[in-house]
Amino acid sequence: MRGIVLAGGLGSRLLPLTAITNKHLLPVYDKPMIYYPIETLVRAGVKDILLVTGGNYAGDFLRLLGNGKAFGLSHIDYVYQEGEGGIAEALGLARYYAEGERMVVVLGDNIIEDDITPFVEAFRAQGEGARILLKEVEDPERFGVAELDGDRVVAIEEKPKVPKSNHAVTGVYMYDANVFDIISTLKPSSRGELEITDVNNAYIRRGTMRFDYLKGWWTDAGTFESLYRANRLVAEGTLGKSPSA
Ligand code: DAU
Repeated sequence: MRGIVLAGGLGSRLLPLTAITNKHLLPVYDKPMIYYPIETLVRAGVKDILLVTGGNYAGDFLRLLGNGKAFGLSHIDYVYQEGEGGIAEALGLARYYAEGERMVVVLGDNIIEDDITPFVEAFRAQGEGARILLKEVEDPERFGVAELDGDRVVAIEEKPKVPKSNHAVTGVYMYDANVFDIISTLKPSSRGELEITDVNNAYIRRGTMRFDYLKGWWTDAGTFESLYRANRLVAEGTLGKSPSA
């Protein structure tokens, strides 16, 4: 299973903090933000990671993370995204890295309390398709929002003004190698990005999307409010908890 961390984009919602560094290098309590998604993958047994980044400070990731040995990784690879054409565009850059293998993708600004190992195992057992992790939130309009029918997800809406549920789609995505063919069919959204929500809806239409719920806390860290929340949760919480605990 390949691991992919997406840390591109310009972090403009965090200006001026991001004027002289990349968003994912900002501190979250006692570590740079990028450590958390990497550690989430390492805890789940992933040994090979591709980091997609961009902007003016991409070289700082190499200085910070080096060859990944300090995290227990066998390999870390890097790829550069020009501009900020969206999460799905960033993932598309991983095509040659994935070499037909299945992958676990984590957004570089997502911090997850749970150990995601059981979900990755469930995806291994699933065979084909995709798997997402949902979390009930109080502000679903900030996220991709899943519309559920019993134990099926029937559609996902990106940042809906009137959300159909409070089940946010978190930034952990598991895909088979078909994801790259799906990405190559996408058109930019009204915000000019290739949307990961469009990728997920394509899997839903194929009938091969499954989901689990995160049990512990989860947050992004891409706005001042959520960055503050991330710092507070990490300082107070227990990262890497088993979902069954
Ligand atoms: O945090 C989960 C949410 O992330 C999902 O619920 C949404 O469906 C999904 O679209 C995304 O929403 P955001 O609008 O909050 O994503 P944002 O633009 O902040 O990007 C999140 C991370 O994705 C960012 O930290 C780095 C990576 N990214 C983003 C863009 C736009 C890239 O690598 N390249 C990009 O061009």
